[in-house]
Amino acid sequence: MKSSSINEKYHSLYRWSIQDPINFWSEQAGHFIKWMRPWTDVLKKDDNKTHAKWFVGAKLNVSSNCLDRHLIKKGDKTAIIWEGDDPNDRKQMTYNELYIEVCKFSNVLKSLNVNKGDRVCIYMPNIIETAVAMLACARLGAIHSVIFGGFSSNALKDRINDTQCKVVVSANEGKRGGKNIPIKGIMDDALQECPSIEKVVVVKHTESDANMHTGRDIWYHEVMKPASDMCAPEAVDSNDPLFILYTSGSTGKPKGILHSSAGYLLHCSLTFKHVFDYKEDEVFWCTADLAWITGHSYVLYGPLSMGATIVLYEGVPTYPTASRYWEVIDRYKVNTLYTAPTILRTLVGMGDSYLNDSTRESLRLLGSVGEPIDAETWDWYFSKVGNQKCPILDTWWQTETGGIMLSQMLQTITKKCGDNVKPMFGIVPDLVDDSEVLTNEDTGNLVIKEPWPGQMLTIYNDEKRFQDTYFTNSKNGGFYIPGDRASYNEKRTLRITGRADDTLNVAGHLIGATEVEAALIKHEAVAEAAVVGYPHPVKGQGIYAYVALINKYQPDEKMINELLNLVKTEISGIAKPDVLHWTPELPKTRSGKVMRRILRKISNNEFDDVGDTSTLVNPSIVELLVNSRTQYGG
Ligand code: WT7
Repeated sequence: MKSSSINEKYHSLYRWSIQDPINFWSEQAGHFIKWMRPWTDVLKKDDNKTHAKWFVGAKLNVSSNCLDRHLIKKGDKTAIIWEGDDPNDRKQMTYNELYIEVCKFSNVLKSLNVNKGDRVCIYMPNIIETAVAMLACARLGAIHSVIFGGFSSNALKDRINDTQCKVVVSANEGKRGGKNIPIKGIMDDALQECPSIEKVVVVKHTESDANMHTGRDIWYHEVMKPASDMCAPEAVDSNDPLFILYTSGSTGKPKGILHSSAGYLLHCSLTFKHVFDYKEDEVFWCTADLAWITGHSYVLYGPLSMGATIVLYEGVPTYPTASRYWEVIDRYKVNTLYTAPTILRTLVGMGDSYLNDSTRESLRLLGSVGEPIDAETWDWYFSKVGNQKCPILDTWWQTETGGIMLSQMLQTITKKCGDNVKPMFGIVPDLVDDSEVLTNEDTGNLVIKEPWPGQMLTIYNDEKRFQDTYFTNSKNGGFYIPGDRASYNEKRTLRITGRADDTLNVAGHLIGATEVEAALIKHEAVAEAAVVGYPHPVKGQGIYAYVALINKYQPDEKMINELLNLVKTEISGIAKPDVLHWTPELPKTRSGKVMRRILRKISNNEFDDVGDTSTLVNPSIVELLVNSRTQYGG
């Protein structure tokens, strides 16, 4: 196809999706999803546009869309290529084999009294059984909540208690970078304070034994053996939830983002097909852990519903060496690599020699997600990884949006970082000012003006927080607010520049400043703490914590270790501060509000222009902070 006509395809489809959304989505839904019952309405909006219901009245099953419908034509096609942390651990599964495994595990869950609408938590390493557990929940219409295997027992406990699940699926151990992670032990700690839990299914992933609690814990391999491989998929309503996934907000505890079945599946299938232009017989590798939304949408649901072959990798990019990704690409002839800037920056820092023993010639396309990609990293990705022949798609989206919202499109792409980003079909982006009014300025806060099928349903257990967090007030017609800043470039295409709120994007993971503060002030020595982000060469943003100790305590080595470990056990290793800056007190306004603006300036080394300090109770504290360097890290 000539590029002008392909070009036309994106533009004409986009135009159709905006001018005639009902017919557009009706056509796409028929094309991308196999339904058990048709809909009565494509879209029903409520009065303030915060709850759009898609494909009302219809029924489907997400797991049978990902498995059963491929069996006749593609039963023997490889669905998952699994690569373990140890380069000698490898496994592949065809669509037939995956289907049987999922049916069996669905029957196991049924025998544990898991029914439609029940929640199941999945606390696992990045292994095939994690995908099986997710698809088995989907088969029964149960709601899964996958929790990252690197989270602490406290973080796990909070999530389990919020979901009130009866069953957890877990493993004895995980493996990362050559180390064994005691997943089961961490979970056992959490379960001491999780009264809703009745049963735990444990995958024996490593040779180590596990301390099994009689009556509660059962081995996966033992219950799978006798399980039947016949399990009819449950007919689920379009707007019945498929999963809950926790993500950090700027304040308060993590939010349980609730996603629908039909709209979500449609959004990630359609974007997978159109953005990555997936072709039969290609191998697609999204490096995200299944526990993040990128893993849900572009390791599992999008690719499998399109019958693709995916790579699932358990380990880290630098183990045993920084050549690991490139070896995997050559070994499996990966065509598309979809990864995060923080991973690329880590690899850039290790030097180019790690690329020498691979050709990466199978690559056709590269993708980036999770944070803004800087020009230097983009250049390296383009010239070194992709040998100057693979376009790079920078995709912007969020846990809440379900799938890609803005991206370069293959048909309209230019070989320039951040250029010509397009909205996905049906997505109407715009900018508002700080008072949520549409603005003609080139820079502002991003809003999405119309609902789209992959949009979250609500925050689990907290509808009020959903309304308060994500929507402009009714005079603007309930636009969705992602919480990002964006600007138009000279071609009037959008570029995302960073967060507009106090969430930090650390190595592609959102962390709430207040979550880290809450962990720090649990220490008896800490009087108060404030956390802000600062530019970090590898992680994008680093965590900078200002800590005021109670008088009798010293900011010594021991204190530093205690504080860092506290954050690790309260949240996870990802949330550990990179810098601790000791201070006698925090700069506050007369009304007691901590002046984060000033703290941000100091941590960004913008000492000359800290701005107006006249409203502070104690302006001298600012000078003290600028001049004091009694800190850890930085
Ligand atoms: C936040 C969402 C998207 C799945 C992984 C993260 C930032 C994400 C980009 C990008 C600039 C990006 C935004 C967004 N972000 N992708 N391509 N360019 N920023 O999902 O944990 O829900 O985080 O990540 O700030 O709001 P998440």
